[in-house]
Amino acid sequence: MGRLRTQLGFLLAALVAATAAIAVAAPFSDAMRGNTPIVDEPTPPPLQNQENNDVRRVRSHPMQPPTIPHKIDGYQLDRTVNRCLFCHARTRIEETKAIPLSVTHYMDRDGSVRGDVSPRRYFCTQCHVPQDAVKPLVDNRFEDFDTASQRAAPAKPAKR
Ligand code: HEC
Ligand code: HEC
Repeated sequence: MGRLRTQLGFLLAALVAATAAIAVAAPFSDAMRGNTPIVDEPTPPPLQNQENNDVRRVRSHPMQPPTIPHKIDGYQLDRTVNRCLFCHARTRIEETKAIPLSVTHYMDRDGSVRGDVSPRRYFCTQCHVPQDAVKPLVDNRFEDFDTASQRAAPAKPAKR
C-alpha cells in the first residue's frame, strides 16, 4: 500500500512538472487578443468598410436573422429614435422600398400580433448585423442547413 502511494506521488509530481513546463514554453496567444495578456486591454483592429452592396444574403436556415446588406454607420438606434424603423416599419415601406419586417416582429411573447413593433424586436442590431469583407479571426467549420442536409449520411457500421 505504502509503495503504491509513493508511486502515485511520483506520478503526480511528474504531471505537475510537465504541465508547468508546457505553460512556460507556450506564451499566451489568442486569435482575437494576439499576445496581449488577459489583464491588459488589446488595441482593437481598425474598422473596415461595411459591406454595402444591397444584395440580400442567403440565410443558413429559415429562422436566421438576415445579415444587413447596407451600411448602418451613424444610424441612431436608442430609446427615443429608431432609424431602422424609419425605413423598415410596415407603414414606411411604400415610400422607402425597404424589406418589411416579418410578422414575427409584431408578435408579443404570447404570439398575439400587435399593431406596432414588439418591444422584444425594437433593438434591431441585437440580432441583425452588417458584414465586413475580412478574413475570419477564428476558423470554423459551420455548414448551413442545406449543405449539411445534402451531405451523404455517414456509412452505417457493418452488422455483426
Ligand atoms: C434608408 C432606408 C433604410 C434604413 C435607415 C435601414 N434600412 Fe435596412 N434595408 C433597406 C433596404 C432598401 C433594404 C433592401 C436591400 C438594400 O437595398 O440594401 C434593406 C435591407 C435590410 C436587411 C436585409 C433583409 C433580408 O431579408 O435580407 C436587413 C436585415 C436590414 N435592412 C436591417 C436594417 C437595420 C437593422 C437597420 C438599422 C440599423 C436598417 N436596416 C436601416 C433600407 C434601410
Ligand atoms: C430578437 C431578434 C431580432 C430582433 C431584435 C429583430 N429581428 Fe429582424 N429578424 C429576426 C429573425 C429571426 C428573422 C428571420 C425570421 C423572420 O422573418 O421572423 C428576422 C427577419 C427580418 C427581416 C426580413 C423579413 C423578411 O420577410 O424577409 C427584416 C427586414 C428584419 N428582420 C429587420 C429588422 C429590424 C429593422 C429590426 C429592428 C426594428 C429587427 N429586425 C429586429 C430577428 C430579429
